[in-house]
Amino acid sequence: METKAIIETEELTKIYNGQVAVDHLSFQVKEGEIFGFLGPNGAGKTTTLLMLLGLTEPTSGRARVAGIDPTREPVKVKRVVGYLQEHMGFYRDLNARQMLRFIAELNAIPADQAEERIERALKTVGLLEEAEKKIQAYSRGMRQRLGIAEILVKEPKIAFLDEPTIGLDPDATNRMLELIQQLCQEKHMTILLSSHLLYQVQRICHRIGIMINGRMVAQGPMEQLAAEKFGVDGEQHTLEEIYMKYFQEA
Ligand SMILES: Nc1ncnc2c1ncn2[C@@H]1O[C@H](COP(=O)(O)OP(=O)(O)OP(=O)(O)O)[C@@H](O)[C@H]1O
Ligand SMILES: [Mg+2]
Repeated sequence: METKAIIETEELTKIYNGQVAVDHLSFQVKEGEIFGFLGPNGAGKTTTLLMLLGLTEPTSGRARVAGIDPTREPVKVKRVVGYLQEHMGFYRDLNARQMLRFIAELNAIPADQAEERIERALKTVGLLEEAEKKIQAYSRGMRQRLGIAEILVKEPKIAFLDEPTIGLDPDATNRMLELIQQLCQEKHMTILLSSHLLYQVQRICHRIGIMINGRMVAQGPMEQLAAEKFGVDGEQHTLEEIYMKYFQEA
C-alpha cells in the first residue's frame, strides 16, 4: 500500500529581489518517513522549509503540510511542525528548563505532562546537569541539543531538522541519529532532514531528494537514485558518489 504524502509542494517558487531561490519545486514527503533533503549551499533548502512553515511567502505555487496551506494558515502549521533551525534564536536570558517550559506553554501542554516531558527531554539530550545554566552560557553543541529537546517536549507530528548534527561531538551525533530514528519508529513522526553529511543521511533516511539551483533533480529511495545513475551496479555506490554524480550532471 502506498503511504500518503504528509508534505506536498506543487511548483513552489520563491524569488528574492529578482533572484530565483526555489524554482517550481514539486516534491512529496510521505507520512512516517525520514526524508533526506540534500543540495549544495544556496540550493534553496532552508527557503523551502521557511515556506512550508509559513515563515516566508511563496512567490507562486502551493504547499500543503498535514493538509494545511502554510501561507494561509501559518499559525496552524506551526502547531503541527517542530523546527530545528539552521541558526537558532533562543531567549538567551532563560535557562534550559525555563525555555522548555515556555515551549510547553506555547503549545498548550498541560503542566504536569509538560514537567514529565521536560525532564525526559533534558535527560535524552544529556542536558539534565546543565538545565539551570543560562542559555547564553551554552556551547554551540549544547544549544543544538536544546533545540532537539524543544522538539521532544512539543512532540509534533512533523519535524523539520535543518542540519541537526552541526556542532555535535561524535558521540552526541550518534545519539542524535538514533534519536531521530526512534522518533520516527516510536512516535511515528515524519522527519524532513536537511544535511550535507551524506554518510549520516545514508544511515537513517528512507527517501532522498536532491535540490540543485532551486529544483529537485532527483527524489526517491537511495537504491532508486543509485540505479538511475549507475544502473545495475548502483548498490555498490555510496550516497556521496550518487550525489556527486547528480551534482556534476546538473
Ligand atoms: N532573506 C533572503 N533575501 C534574499 N535572498 C535570500 C534570502 N534567503 C536566502 N536567499 C537566497 O536564496 C538562495 C537559497 O538560499 P537557502 O538559504 O535556501 O539555501 P540552502 O539550500 O539552505 O543553503 P545552505 O546549504 O547553505 O544552508 C541563496 O541564493 C540565498 O542567497
Ligand atoms: Mg540552509
